[in-house]
Amino acid sequence: MTLPRIVNIVEVGPRDGLQNEGKQVPADIKLELIRRLADAGHSHIEATSFVSPKWIPQMADAADVMAGITDIKSASFSVLTPNLRGFENALAAGATEIEIFGAASETFSQKNINCSIAESLAKFGEVAEAAKANNIKIRGSVSCSMGCPYEGDIAIDKVVEVTKALYDMGCHEVAISDTIGVGTPEKVKAVIEAVKKEVPVDALAVHFHDTYGQALANIYAALECGISTIDSSVAGLGGCPYAKGAAGNVATDDVVYMLNGMSIETGIDLDKLVDAGHYIMNYLGRAPSSKVSLAALLNK
Ligand code: HMG
Ligand code: MG
Repeated sequence: MTLPRIVNIVEVGPRDGLQNEGKQVPADIKLELIRRLADAGHSHIEATSFVSPKWIPQMADAADVMAGITDIKSASFSVLTPNLRGFENALAAGATEIEIFGAASETFSQKNINCSIAESLAKFGEVAEAAKANNIKIRGSVSCSMGCPYEGDIAIDKVVEVTKALYDMGCHEVAISDTIGVGTPEKVKAVIEAVKKEVPVDALAVHFHDTYGQALANIYAALECGISTIDSSVAGLGGCPYAKGAAGNVATDDVVYMLNGMSIETGIDLDKLVDAGHYIMNYLGRAPSSKVSLAALLNK
């Protein structure tokens, strides 16, 4: 199996990372973080979410964040939009790429976006049509692809079905997401190989949380399956408010360090990335969960 020469990193720290913080992070801190991430070489950053502020107050400043990044030309930004209301707000704020986020678990879908999988796909279909009419790129994600915090094991067929549904709606890329980090490499391969029968591998990404410490091994397994887009979060920030116990996303710092060691290009400057991580962790007042970021602190 040949591994990719180039990997696209989708930096989800400002969204997936900061949506989970108990402390409200002001927009100007988010903007400084985004600026530092772009300066480190990130070309795709998930900036914020246009969701209900009652559900996720941490993202209530989405329009302010979008207004503050208009001058950053080196990166593109995507934003989460669960429904038409979110899409319209995102469009008004100048978004050029949106993400519709489904789940392979019925219970998680209800807890996260208050509707069944079938209802969510109907809403996403409306969003996708509106996005296409406005020339907005569409990304997708499928939560609980490796397991669910409420239902446990999830049938691989369900992951395939939801991923294909999002791809057929017009998503250029769908992230197979391990919301609670329970996957292990052979499971990851089984899921990706099954999805690949219905969706081209170039249109797939992986999004791993690192709750059980499996994320880097899972990424290696995904690369072996032909995946070349990886979601990750600076310093290992992150979690999901509707998935109890979900740890942060795999740390971008750790992913870039591993890929550097494999001579796989990401376009990201590891030192600047680590500094961006230290910036936000200093603000939050905790140590990073990224091992690479911690090692850099020890070696300072
Ligand atoms: P709902 O309560 O069912 O919606 O929420 P509704 O249509 O009945 O509206 C209720 C209220 O919300 C109304 O306001 C609406 O206007 C408002 P009120 O009349 O009560 O004042 N509303 C909105 N406001 C702003 N933006 C909107 C919006 N929609 C409705 N877009 C909804 C449904 C989906 C909105 C809600 O459940 C929600 O916001 N959920 C949050 C989901 C979320 O952000 N979860 C975390 C991100 S997903 C994730 O982290 C997983 C991922 O990383 C992959 C992985 O790791 O698995 C992507
Ligand atoms: Mg996530």
